[in-house]
Amino acid sequence: MPIKIAENVFWIGVFDWKLRVFHGIATPKGGTYNSYLVLGDEGALIDTVYEPFFEEYRQKIMGITDLGKVRHLIVNHAEPDHSSSIKKIIDINPEIKVHCTVRCKEFLEAMGVKGNFVVVKDGDTLNLGGKTLRFVEVPMLHWPETMWTFLEEDKVLFSCDMFGSQVISSTMVAEDVTDIEAHAKRYFALIFRPLSTMVLKGLEKCEKLAPSIICPSHGPVWRDVRRITDLYRRWSTSPERNKVLILYSSIWHDVEKMAKAIAEGVASTGAEVVLKDVEELSYNGWADLLAEGMEAKGIALGSLTILGGIFPQLLYATSLLRLVKAKGKLGLSFGAYGWGPGITRKLDDELRALEAPPFRNGIEVRFSPTERDLQACREAGRELGNKVMGVS
Ligand SMILES: [Fe+2]
Ligand SMILES: [Fe+2]
Repeated sequence: MPIKIAENVFWIGVFDWKLRVFHGIATPKGGTYNSYLVLGDEGALIDTVYEPFFEEYRQKIMGITDLGKVRHLIVNHAEPDHSSSIKKIIDINPEIKVHCTVRCKEFLEAMGVKGNFVVVKDGDTLNLGGKTLRFVEVPMLHWPETMWTFLEEDKVLFSCDMFGSQVISSTMVAEDVTDIEAHAKRYFALIFRPLSTMVLKGLEKCEKLAPSIICPSHGPVWRDVRRITDLYRRWSTSPERNKVLILYSSIWHDVEKMAKAIAEGVASTGAEVVLKDVEELSYNGWADLLAEGMEAKGIALGSLTILGGIFPQLLYATSLLRLVKAKGKLGLSFGAYGWGPGITRKLDDELRALEAPPFRNGIEVRFSPTERDLQACREAGRELGNKVMGVS
């Protein structure tokens, strides 16, 4: 069923209940592709949905108005989750005017869309008769061609991917989802943290518009605008908390024992500790790792030695963590070897590449840690925890 957002403004998106991974984000509760319908004297669709859901989408529109008579389609973003139904809409309604930025038109044409394009620029408006849409160019939020659409009379900002989350709420109200911030954070960490400079510019534009409602392209609608914009400001500038992320790979549980001993040491200082075996990535997607990495002030990396180097899955994880674009974190390396030492030197290089330089020599054991080794891990963990807590 469509959901009313404001007078003559409707959410007409779809729920993808079976979605489990989106852009590498684990989506245990499914996800949404949001589209909106604004009705003045003339009607306008804001974005479309992922094409496999077209029939459900079409029926939803037809429940409100005749799709064949809708005059305008606003395309904020050319990525297929929003644009892949455009061809089908044009098949039904060849006269529909497709409003988008010049770059978006280029992208859509490259995707084979042939339509009645109207190229719009930042600040342009479209008068629907009683409803006025203003276009706001926001390059790199999420792609170079992206724009937002602002409905002036009702102060509704259609913000495309920004301020989104991937979670289903039947009411489409963010406040109805108890863990909405966790969903928004995971989505932000993967999609927008690498673009945080542009996010800050977007926040300035958002502040000037002063919307009362934010309607993103994924997940529920925000009526508490301040809540999500404050979170975006914090996550883009200084998301770090007193947290240590311990990320390790272990086959025979030796490195795991070290990781747990470090965790004990960190926890004894009162700092928050997150322990992750890289194998978890296979089950939980990347975004949990990135969200934790974004917030961690300390990162401990541990690996067994395989063919003289770091376990490949850990290297995969650190290459993802680079997307976090960390600043000023602290690192600690630990690992095990059988034939030749040197694993922690390699891990230290990874930590430096993550902007989390090691604050001390790594802890390296041959085959299995002794009780003395584990005590050294606890102490190193305590030292890292204290630094993260600002104690030393
Ligand atoms: Fe996107
Ligand atoms: Fe999207």
